[in-house]
Order: sequence, then structure tokens, then C-alpha cells
Amino acid sequence: MAIPAERRMVDATTPRPARVLSRRREAEDVWTLAVEAGPQDLDAAPGRFAMLTAFGVGEIPVSYSGDPAAEGRVIHTIRAVGAVSRALAGLEEGAMLGVRGPFGKGWPLAEVEGREVIAVAGGLGLAPVRPAIRRLVARGERPTLVYGARSPAQALFREDLADWRARGVEVEATVDHAGPDWRGHVGVVPPLIARRVRDPARTVAFVCGPEVMMRFAASALLEAGVAAEAIHISMERNMKCAVGLCGHCQFGGDLLCRDGPVAPLARVADRLHVAEL
Ligand SMILES: Cc1cc2nc3c(=O)[nH]c(=O)nc-3n(C[C@H](O)[C@H](O)[C@H](O)COP(=O)(O)OP(=O)(O)OC[C@H]3O[C@@H](n4cnc5c(N)ncnc54)[C@H](O)[C@@H]3O)c2cc1C
Ligand code: FES
Repeated sequence: MAIPAERRMVDATTPRPARVLSRRREAEDVWTLAVEAGPQDLDAAPGRFAMLTAFGVGEIPVSYSGDPAAEGRVIHTIRAVGAVSRALAGLEEGAMLGVRGPFGKGWPLAEVEGREVIAVAGGLGLAPVRPAIRRLVARGERPTLVYGARSPAQALFREDLADWRARGVEVEATVDHAGPDWRGHVGVVPPLIARRVRDPARTVAFVCGPEVMMRFAASALLEAGVAAEAIHISMERNMKCAVGLCGHCQFGGDLLCRDGPVAPLARVADRLHVAEL
């Protein structure tokens, strides 16, 4: 749907009110909100983000963990770490929040058609990767997912993991600390990557998680022969304006609200300190 330019300008700087349609717990401190969608949200491509306001508390960037174009509502998954995220994660069905966006550059889904996609996610990093996998699966592709969580109870979107496996997606899950019922891997993500890269020249990687995990994952992908231009990293920095004006999200020469959060490793490796490039 085409949205007039003046409407986008207003929406870019002014939060619009939106209602929480439902709320569900993903893990001890992580909640998923379904929020009513506006016409702008059809632009919420996987990997982009919105600025969410908890009224009277503040505003933070949060990724789309669903695909509004496919689902007709907006899904955000929020870890309660501080005042704003706690207030947002605590919103009950029917409560109002403020929304600006979508902002930023997402995963390059149009460019990866016919290539082998390996998604590497750590913890809450699965949130922005989830709609990308959903879109790939919907168009008949079979990406690989390597996912690490702190513990089985902290693993997010467990229904999706099962559903993707049933649809032929290769899902490798690992946890730092296993319980007696855990049948998957134990340990960090990077050692699981190399044997999942079968044809490095045709492989494209989407990586999102804690920065230290992304550094080691990027090194593992490079060692496996994947080109730095084909490794896409989702970066996190504090944001305020989200429209390239305030400089809060500066990352070297880039403003991550505008030039990211997803960027090719070839562009950000020096600032991520990935050694093998
Ligand atoms: C592009 C982008 C997308 C994001 N997507 C999501 C998302 O989908 N879901 C989500 O929950 N968060 C996401 N974040 C992170 C989220 O914006 C921060 O957690 C939030 O700004 C914290 O604000 P606060 O006021 O709740 O806590 P603050 O008062 O800012 O921080 C409280 C404490 O938590 C720590 N902290 C801050 N951010 C994080 C973090 N990301 N992880 C762990 N500890 C943190 C701080 O160092 C501090 O100690 C995203 C950030 C960016 C830049
Ligand atoms: S958040 Fe203001 S320039 Fe990026």
C-alpha cells in the first residue's frame, strides 16, 4: 500500500497511539505484545525496528518479531531490563502505547533468493530473525537456524522452532546451562556454525545477538569461507530520534537508525573487531 510522503514525515517524529491486542510470556523476563497495526506498519520488513513509548516513562527501539504484512498486527518481543522495557513488557491487553516507525534497514531478503541462508541468533536476537525465517519458509526456502539461549527455559519462540523443523528448516539449538530434559547441544553458538555451511560461495548469513557472540559467529562464518559481504549483522546502539538527526546511534561513520541496524560485516567489521577479515 502506498503511503503519502507527508504522512510518513509526521509518523516519523510523532508517536501514534496503538492498542495492545494481546500479551504473552516467552520467558521469565521476556514478553511478546501483539499491537494493532497502522498502514505504516506494512513497511515493517524483517530486521527493521519501531520506537515504542510507554507513556509517562520513555521511548525505546524495539525490533519487529512478527511480520505485519502477513499477520495484520504488529508483534514485538521485549526483555524487561530497565524502566521503559519493564513498563512496555507489563502492558496488558487493551492498554495503549506510542509507536513511531518503521525505521532502519532490515535483512536483505530480496537479495538472497536461491542462496543458502544461515541465521545465527543468540537470546533475544531471535526476535528480529524470526520474521525473516517466516518469510523465507513462506516462499519455499529452507534456511538453517543456529540458535543459542542461556537455558532451555530462556529459549524463545519454541513453537516456531518446532514448526520450522517440521517444515524442513534445519534448527540447531544450544544452551549454556542444560536441564535433565534437554536433548540439544550445550555450549556456545560459534562451534556449531562451520558444519552448517555447505556451500560457502552460495551462503548468506543473518546474525543477531549479544555483540561478543556476533564477533565470534562472524569469525566462524569467515573461517568457513562465507564472504564478509554476505554476512549481515544486526547492531544495537542507543537511539533517540531514529531518523538520523541526533547522533545518538553513531557507529563510526554510520548512524545505525538510518544505515542499520542490519549492515554487512564488510562494512562494520573494523568496529566490531572481527579479526579474520
Ligand atoms: C535497533 C534495536 C532493536 C532492538 N530490539 C529490541 C527488541 O526487539 N526487544 C528488546 O527487548 N530490546 C530491543 N532492543 C534493546 C532495547 O531498546 C533496550 O533494552 C532498551 O532501550 C532498554 O531501555 P530501558 O529504559 O528499559 O533500560 P535502561 O535503563 O536503558 O537500561 C537498564 C539496564 O539494562 C541494560 N540494558 C540496556 N539495553 C540492554 C539490552 N539490549 N540487553 C540487556 N541489557 C540491556 C543497561 O545497560 C542497564 O544496565 C533493541 C535496540 C535497538 C537499538
Ligand atoms: S537515533 Fe538519532 S541519529 Fe540515530
